[in-house]
Amino acid sequence: MADTTLMDKLVSLCKRRGFVFQSSEIYGGLGSVWDYGPLGVELKKNVKDRWWRAMVHARDDIEGLDAAILMHPRVWEASGHVSGFTDPLVDCRQCKNRFRADDARIKGIPGQPDAQCPVCGSRGTLTEPRMFNLMFKTFMGPVEEQAAVVYLRPETAQGIYVNYLNVLQSSRQRIPFGIAQIGKAFRNEITPGNFIFRTREFEQMEMQFFVKPGTDDEWFERWREWRMQWHHGLGLTPSRLQWHRHGPDELAHYARAAFDIQYEFPFGWQEIEGIHNRGDFDLGRHQEFSGKKLEYFDQAANDRYLPLIVETSAGADRVALTLLVDAYREEAVEGETRVVLGFHPAVAPIKAGVFPLVKKDGMPELATALYQDLKRRFPVFYDDSGAIGRRYRRMDEAGTPFGITVDGETAAQRTVTVRHRDSMQQERVGLDQVAEFVAERLGRD
Ligand code: GAP
Repeated sequence: MADTTLMDKLVSLCKRRGFVFQSSEIYGGLGSVWDYGPLGVELKKNVKDRWWRAMVHARDDIEGLDAAILMHPRVWEASGHVSGFTDPLVDCRQCKNRFRADDARIKGIPGQPDAQCPVCGSRGTLTEPRMFNLMFKTFMGPVEEQAAVVYLRPETAQGIYVNYLNVLQSSRQRIPFGIAQIGKAFRNEITPGNFIFRTREFEQMEMQFFVKPGTDDEWFERWREWRMQWHHGLGLTPSRLQWHRHGPDELAHYARAAFDIQYEFPFGWQEIEGIHNRGDFDLGRHQEFSGKKLEYFDQAANDRYLPLIVETSAGADRVALTLLVDAYREEAVEGETRVVLGFHPAVAPIKAGVFPLVKKDGMPELATALYQDLKRRFPVFYDDSGAIGRRYRRMDEAGTPFGITVDGETAAQRTVTVRHRDSMQQERVGLDQVAEFVAERLGRD
């Protein structure tokens, strides 16, 4: 399957089955903004829940936080985003399109007479590169003036740094400890695309770990290992995950060292999570800009210092896309193409489909009772319309791992047929054991 075809098929499946829709579609859509439908919202929630469980609930040394999207504008001066979060852009005076100056499709040097616009083909119409800030601006209060400008946060991390002392003191944690947060971030990306891979509004799952100077390299390595294990735990194909180490020219202004976890998408190896050793950059800058001391006092050692930070930063949307891409497959079954999303049961939006084989002989009543019972434990879907084969296929496309059919033998024998999505094998399971049968196979952590 050609790679572009795979992405096209995935986008179409996502719309058909209710994973992801284009934002404001009835108005022609909004560039690189997407909405999650009934199945997509469950998939992304499963990603976020698993992350929260692994990072916050399962650990004693990490606390959760939910900081506001709007922050004091000085935060973004301290963080370096006002001056440095920019891309060089060029405009075409002829067709009015805007490009990144390093867009590989541009022929020649922008600003020079021979430079050619990649869209309209005009020569000499591209402007010199100008820096463009990627932060979305808005105004706070009733007056739209420069003094009222606030930004939609381009990362969640800053909310953690400015709350570090509040969390430290209220939770009575000691260093080393971390703060984790899941939340929306906004970037006015110039070359967005590839579906939900790079969007202008997205969700980050970020954790900042505060450590004593001199122990940062060690913690950095630990966090690298733990984060890669987490991605493996999602059931992703191991050979499609790899590390990418940032060279000196790639390192962000705040980073001493950085590694990306990359996944092999149809459009190439791309970052899904970054692990950074941020050193003392963040607390140092906020201390300087706010004038507030952000040092940590280690009472036992009678030692005072500014903690260093190891950050893990993943995109919830990117991980959701990774799961979709990794799960998508087509198989030839009895002369037809079967489309399957082979999700790990733990992340599947719906865990089981419940079907009466036919709409008579007491089967709908038994199936409804079973559905109501299962629904209290995990998301299930009831479907009594169409041939049973078609109902299975619909659940295959939704990535539902189990299909449970109430049939002619159920009433007398108190058993149902459980059909496994991947192997399509069927087995009989006691009616009163179905809930446990499914629950045992969800592999929650
Ligand atoms: N606080 C560090 C930071 O924000 P980043 O590498 O810019 O680092 C971290 O972003 C993660 O956020 C990325 O690995 C990616 O998963 C996600 N991300 C960044 N920009 C995104 C975008 N435009 N659309 C979707 N996800 C994005």
